[in-house]
Amino acid sequence: MKPLVQRFHFLFSTLYLLIITIYPTHITSSFTPYHTLFLSLASNSSASSHLHHLTRLPHLSSSHEDSLAASYVLSSFPFPSHSTSYSALLSFPIHRSLSLFSPSSPPFHFSLTQIPSPSDPSSAVFSLTVPTFHAYAHTGSVTAPLTYAYYGRVEDFKKLRSLGINVTGTVVLARYGKIYRGDIVKNAQDAGASGVLVYSDYEDYAKGKAFPAGPWLPESGVQVGSVFRALGDPTTPGWSCKADEEECERVSTEEIVRRGDMPSVPSLPISGKDGEKLHKAIGGKVAPDDWQGLEGAPAYHLGPGPGVVNLTYIGNETLRTIQNVFAVIEGKEEPDRYVLLGNHRDAWTFGAVDPNSGTAALLELSERLYKLQKKGWKPRRTIILCNWDAEEYGLIGSTEWVEENRELLTSRAVAYLNVDSAVYGPGFYVSATPQLDPLLIEASKMVRDPDNSSQTLYDSWISSGSSPPIDRLGGGGTDYAAFVQHIGVPSVDMIFGNAASIWGLVALRLADDEILPFDYISYASELKTSAKSIEEEAAGCPVSFSPLYKSIEDLKTAAVNVNKEKKALEDKFWGLSLRKDKSKLRELNDRLMMAERAFTDREGLSGREWYKHLIYGPSKYDDYGSKSYPGIDDAIKEAKKSNTTEAWRFVQHEIYRVARAVKHASLVLNGGLT
Ligand SMILES: *[C@@H]1O[C@H](CO)[C@@H](O)[C@H](O)[C@H]1NC(C)=O
Ligand SMILES: *[C@@H]1O[C@H](CO)[C@@H](O)[C@H](O)[C@H]1NC(C)=O
Ligand SMILES: *[C@@H]1O[C@H](CO)[C@@H](O)[C@H](O)[C@H]1NC(C)=O
Ligand SMILES: *[C@@H]1O[C@H](CO)[C@@H](O)[C@H](O)[C@H]1NC(C)=O
Ligand SMILES: *[C@@H]1O[C@H](CO)[C@@H](O)[C@H](O)[C@H]1NC(C)=O
Repeated sequence: MKPLVQRFHFLFSTLYLLIITIYPTHITSSFTPYHTLFLSLASNSSASSHLHHLTRLPHLSSSHEDSLAASYVLSSFPFPSHSTSYSALLSFPIHRSLSLFSPSSPPFHFSLTQIPSPSDPSSAVFSLTVPTFHAYAHTGSVTAPLTYAYYGRVEDFKKLRSLGINVTGTVVLARYGKIYRGDIVKNAQDAGASGVLVYSDYEDYAKGKAFPAGPWLPESGVQVGSVFRALGDPTTPGWSCKADEEECERVSTEEIVRRGDMPSVPSLPISGKDGEKLHKAIGGKVAPDDWQGLEGAPAYHLGPGPGVVNLTYIGNETLRTIQNVFAVIEGKEEPDRYVLLGNHRDAWTFGAVDPNSGTAALLELSERLYKLQKKGWKPRRTIILCNWDAEEYGLIGSTEWVEENRELLTSRAVAYLNVDSAVYGPGFYVSATPQLDPLLIEASKMVRDPDNSSQTLYDSWISSGSSPPIDRLGGGGTDYAAFVQHIGVPSVDMIFGNAASIWGLVALRLADDEILPFDYISYASELKTSAKSIEEEAAGCPVSFSPLYKSIEDLKTAAVNVNKEKKALEDKFWGLSLRKDKSKLRELNDRLMMAERAFTDREGLSGREWYKHLIYGPSKYDDYGSKSYPGIDDAIKEAKKSNTTEAWRFVQHEIYRVARAVKHASLVLNGGLT
């Protein structure tokens, strides 16, 4: 009997091998030859030619040049492409002026202009850039003494109060660099300031050689940006207005200001040089040691006065047409499942790094996918390439689109992969929702490090520690926000070098793998780590985190079980792919896709309802600051301030609410009704 069994076994395995090689529908949950081919098709010259085309002229959102750039992207995509336009409130400067009056010198009128280096090839067209301003700044004029408020954080104003400095009625001088500029202005306004000037201190921005000799900001360089504190078109919070829509509901700017999303005091961004000049006019107490500037510079004081400034700003907030551009590569097996790749196109000036290094990478990537298609590749799921407009003003293009398409996206979007700046400097920076961590790590092992071709991206990525550092997507700042924080789509945000390769590779796996490469075990462990740190924040306080820990344990169990199911399905599929099992596969994938949605809550975060995700969201006091459990965090901060029973009960409510969301995610993964 024995030899016969062996022979049978041999025969069986040969047959088995034959089946898996000839049968095209066996489970593919790994890299395929097409994916390797994708890596080999990288083209430097294509990316650089796109970058050159896109950045010849400044292309502020809704400008003529922005619309030329949109046409360029539209016609460069080698796949069916289209554009979708919205009418949104943008903001432009009409008049800016700043004068300094100090007792010891004659009045000084600042030019508020940036001076390009004569050797900069763009200096000839530099005058076409928009004057330096804060988008959506309050129109107004203030003449008042100056105070210095360091980075303009809540704790900096607290410190000033404790030092006996009253900023009420003054013009606050604050530094860029730690928090979102819109929050600097809001914090100053809440502290009673009548105007705000935000400058780039040499200590933060001029430690090395200034451009063009080095990468640092020139003395006259100014950081332009928005001070709007919500996302999307300010007049359509939660919905969108198409460009050709005749009647559309809009919120008035007075209402937006009343909600605290637009400032009620004027502000301007200024250069390091102008900041230095203003510092010299501020007397009073010497600022704390850590508030000082570059070593050797004259000491900074806190004020108020004696220097008085006249800060005047007049802006034009007006409805303009913005244009998102898309290319669609239809999926063969599951055309109604979407893998989205996004980058924005609009720039405050030329956009060579932010965002058009990313746009060039997106176009180069699309050419590689086209070449794959010519070789016979067809994605299993639909891939959508997105090029957003008006990101700089407040992630408007992406947010309007997500708001308009919310229902289809929540039922069909598998993942969103964002790249804002593809080339930025050395290093690879990734943020993601945690079920994507294992895939990102796997993909980084397949891609060479563009800065050191003798090792993989993974090798360089871990050089700073034992495991690759992956941040989370709580902060605002770029176009993943609406996908994650409003509708709960698993997402990635990447910055750096050979981004087109890793970006495309991750997309290919998400589009082609029969079983979605999502791992919720990493989500559960990440949730636990964050729970521990927020528990520490509330150490000694009358609240219990055990409902949260319990729900995380349940999620972990569900994640282990779903991984076993994946494994079993893979084993079963080796060789035997029956029609019946396709629906099983689809059902499993839907659970993996929808589990992230369970973290969103219809009510949203308390007091900022647009944010629906209860796990990741921005800090209430810094839109750039990423928070885990933002609702619990807000509630703890409030409770610590008021220390009332009611406030602590509210913290407990927030903990329960998150625990329920996590519980829902495990129910989705389990996939059965209770
Ligand atoms: C791409 O271009 C850069 C800069 O011109 C060059 O250093 C690099 O070797 C090129 N890489 C490839 C793969 O051609
Ligand atoms: C700060 O100054 C304003 C106006 O001068 C005054 O109304 C307010 O009471 C002062 N605040 C403190 C804490 O002294
Ligand atoms: C401040 O400057 C503006 C010009 O930009 C001027 O119209 C206004 O009168 C000045 N205000 C004061 C109080 O000097
Ligand atoms: C504001 O911009 C609109 C066009 O977008 C223009 O028609 C209007 O004249 C501008 N207003 C001012 C005061 O410049
Ligand atoms: C490049 O990678 C090799 C191999 O890992 C390493 O030995 C070398 O130090 C790296 N070079 C730089 C400049 O990081």
